Amino acid sequence: MTGRYARITPAFCEELRTIVGTEFLLTDPETLRIYGADETEDLCFPPEVVVKPGTAAEVSAILKFASANRIPVTPRGGGTGLSGGALPVLGGISLSMERFTRILKIDLANLQALVEPAVTTQRFQEEVEKVGLYYPPDPSSRGTSHIGGNVAESAGGPHAVKYGVTRDYVLGLEAVLPTGEIIHTGGRVLKNASGYNLTQLLVGSEGTLAVVTRITLRLIPKPRLRKVLLAAFDSIEKATEAVSAIFQGGVTPAAIEFMEKAAVQAAETSLGRKFPNGDAEAQLLIELDGHTATVVDDEIHRVAASIEPFGPRDLILAEEPRKIEDVWALRKSVGEAVKSISPYKEEDTVVPRSELPALIRGVKEISSRYGITAICYGHAGDGNVHVNILKRGMSDEAWNRSLEAAVEEIFRLTVSLGGAISGEHGIGYSQKRYLPIALSPIEINLLKGIKNVFDPNRILNPGKIFD
Ligand code: LAC
Ligand code: ZN
Repeated sequence: MTGRYARITPAFCEELRTIVGTEFLLTDPETLRIYGADETEDLCFPPEVVVKPGTAAEVSAILKFASANRIPVTPRGGGTGLSGGALPVLGGISLSMERFTRILKIDLANLQALVEPAVTTQRFQEEVEKVGLYYPPDPSSRGTSHIGGNVAESAGGPHAVKYGVTRDYVLGLEAVLPTGEIIHTGGRVLKNASGYNLTQLLVGSEGTLAVVTRITLRLIPKPRLRKVLLAAFDSIEKATEAVSAIFQGGVTPAAIEFMEKAAVQAAETSLGRKFPNGDAEAQLLIELDGHTATVVDDEIHRVAASIEPFGPRDLILAEEPRKIEDVWALRKSVGEAVKSISPYKEEDTVVPRSELPALIRGVKEISSRYGITAICYGHAGDGNVHVNILKRGMSDEAWNRSLEAAVEEIFRLTVSLGGAISGEHGIGYSQKRYLPIALSPIEINLLKGIKNVFDPNRILNPGKIFD
C-alpha cells in the first residue's frame, strides 16, 4: 500500500513552505517524533514533515497539492486520541491544526458558538460558563484535547449519559475536502431536513473524509447545582446491576461512572492519597445536577432508594465544590493511572446498559482464561466500559499470543450482547483489524464507498478505520 504514495522530496517541502511560510514547516527529528505519537499505547509513526496552516485557504492548498502528488496527509488536533487517529501510519504530512485557536463567537440569542478546531475543550467550557452556558462533552483529556479532535472522534465523557456526546452538539461545519474544495455543512439551525446529513457524516469520521476548519456548536443553560453520590459495593455484579435500577427509578443522573477496585487503587497510587472505600470491590460515582436544590435533593433520595436493594456497603454524598472536584479527580486520573502500571491495550466496549453485568462478568472470565489482567472502569450509565488489558509480568511471547485472541473474544461477546466495539475512542489505527467483528462486509463496503466519494486519491488519513 505504501508504494502507491509519494515520498516527501525537498522540492515538495519547498512547495509546502510557500503555502504555510517557513516558520510553519518542520522536519527536525524531534518534532517528527512528537507528531508521530498521540496517547494511543506506545505507538509512534513519525511523519516526513509537519505543516501548521493558519487559514482554511492554506489547508485547501496543502490538500490540493497532496492530492495531485499522492502524499498521505494526517490531520492532528491535541494529540490526545486513544485509537491512533492522528498517527501518520504511512508517513507523509502531519497537518497540525494547532494555530486555529479562536473562539469566534458566543451567540447568546441562539445559545450557540462558532469556534476554530484547536480551541481546547476545557477552555471552551470555561468561556461559555462565564456567560451561564454549558458545553457538556467532557473527555478526561479535556484540558488538552481540541474541539476539532473531539468532533473527529465524536468524543464522549462522563456527562454523555444525560447530555449526549460531541455529535449531539455539532450543528454545522466548515471543512476542506481532500481535493481542496471548502464546504459548509448544516448551519445555525436546530432543524434541517435538506438532504443527507453531511455534518453528522463528518462528525466521528476520524479525520478520513475532510479537515474541519470551523465548528458551530449548540449550547445549553448551565445547571446551577450539582452533587455527587459515591456508592461502594462488595461485588462488581451488584454495582453494575444497580445502574439500570437507577434509571428505572425515574432519574437520569448527569453521570454514572463505574470503577473497579484495581482502577481506584491505581488512581490512589498515582494521586498519592487514599480515598474512602478504596478496598471496596466496585464504586459508582453518581452525579445529579439541576437548577434548584429541591430537584437535586429529590433525585439523590430516589437514587439512594434505587440502589438500596443491591446492598451498597457505603454511600457518601459530596456537596461542596471542593469535595466534588476531589471525587472527580479520582475518576479522571484512572485512565492514565491504569496505563502507567505496565504496557497495555485499551478497549472501549459499549453495550445496552442492562447488559453491563454480563459484559464485565464475561471480560473477567475471558481474561482469567488467557491469564491476563483486565481492569474495567468507565461510563456505566452509557453501558460504556473501558477495558484495560495489562501485560504486567507476562513474557512477550505469551502477551503476543494471548492479546489478540483475548481482545477478539471480548469484542465478540460485546457484539453478541447488542454492543459496539467503540463507544467514544474510535476505530482509527489500533482497532481496525477488529472492525469486521462489528460490521458486515456489506456495511464495510458502504463505508469504503463513502470514503471514495470524499477522497478519490485516498490521501486523507490513510490506514485508518479499514484498509
Ligand atoms: C476516560 C477516557 C479513557 O473515560 O475515555 O477516562
Ligand atoms: Zn471514557
